[in-house]
Amino acid sequence: MRTQVGIVGAGPAGLLLSQLLHLRGIETVILERRSREYVEGRIRAGVLEQGTVDLLNKAQVGERMRRVGLVHEGIELSFGGRRHRIDFRALTGKAVTVYGQTELTKDLIGARLAAGGKIVFEAEDVSVHDFDRDRPKLRFRKGGRAHVLSCDFIGGCDGFHGVCRASVPRDALTTYERTYPFAWLGILAETPPVSDELIYCQHERGFALFSMRSPSLSRLYIQCAPDENLDEWPDARIWDELRARLGGDAAEALQSGPSLEKSIAPMRSFVAEPMRFGRLFLAGDAAHIVPPTGAKGLNLAAADVRVLARALTEFYASGRTGLIEAYSDACLRRVWKAQRFSWWMTSMLHRFPERQPFDDRLQLAELDYVTGSIAASTALAENYVGLPLD
Ligand code: APR
Ligand code: PHB
Repeated sequence: MRTQVGIVGAGPAGLLLSQLLHLRGIETVILERRSREYVEGRIRAGVLEQGTVDLLNKAQVGERMRRVGLVHEGIELSFGGRRHRIDFRALTGKAVTVYGQTELTKDLIGARLAAGGKIVFEAEDVSVHDFDRDRPKLRFRKGGRAHVLSCDFIGGCDGFHGVCRASVPRDALTTYERTYPFAWLGILAETPPVSDELIYCQHERGFALFSMRSPSLSRLYIQCAPDENLDEWPDARIWDELRARLGGDAAEALQSGPSLEKSIAPMRSFVAEPMRFGRLFLAGDAAHIVPPTGAKGLNLAAADVRVLARALTEFYASGRTGLIEAYSDACLRRVWKAQRFSWWMTSMLHRFPERQPFDDRLQLAELDYVTGSIAASTALAENYVGLPLD
């Protein structure tokens, strides 16, 4: 089997890369370890930056997003018993769109398959070879048979636990990491959102986030211990905790509803450098992880593949390798700014078990400053809606 660009992973990064390349006449094959049902059912992030929305429209997969995505022109920060709005539109002229990654994944898979794109689901034992030479290869098994896919380039879009980053020689890679002493317990619940906009709550019981997927579907998170046991969190306890952290009239207005999904996500900041090794490119979670507080993970994955699609398009059109060589640095400049923002939002809003009373005072002062100063709230807003692409 042969293709121009072999892609490992059918998450948002791999699927969008495949779609962008297809629109420029470049052929891809995606190898995905899981089934289509599994990939389409995973509940993940939900906030798209303006630049991500524009990219999805350009990639011709924006029709449903434009129809059912919710445009949000601000968020609220809740602390000290009050809520404060950050007005994105007024501060930056931009907005974000709330649209589940699950839905985006379905749109992308639908578009790829409708155009005859090749996605091998349930590809087993994928391995990556010869990316330091001219003809890299992907080996895999499917239905008991061994296959070899020979390619010009490999897109390593296989997430944090994938095989691509792990195939790079250790001494060729520098990694930077921070773990946090807490996790997020999330539920997707059949109940209307308590507010039209997302509410990020700093509270002495811990952080909480009130998000949504539609006018009848809420996505809610509470800070918990990293080793928390889900069995100890029946729905009623989660709703009580959400109400306690939200406080005020909104807590009374919050309606419990049946939960469709419940999970615990660890919090981590991680970057691997560089993001290219010869003809292997890492993109999305394969190269970097951000804690979810800034809603940057999916947007960073989209920004990476935008840069990569341009680089490969230039190569196939002209034989020039300038953009390929610039890929890693171009992505990492954005990645580190998103790391900084995600770390900062996380630090400002969570309760750290080891903190000192001094730290508590600083945290409240930070929130007071961010919500009271036009300069500081603009800094939050311009990062949240997405820094300019280039
Ligand atoms: N072989 C083939 N496929 C693999 C392998 C492997 N060895 N390992 C992982 N995969 C697949 C996973 O099953 C998954 O479908 O790679 C895909 C990676 O997708 P994501 O984890 O969604 O990563 P990415 O596409 O980079 O998207 C980043 O998605 O989950 C969010 O927080 C994340 O918002 C961020 C965005
Ligand atoms: C979500 O809706 O899942 C969501 C929203 C904002 C975040 C993180 C997650 O910062």
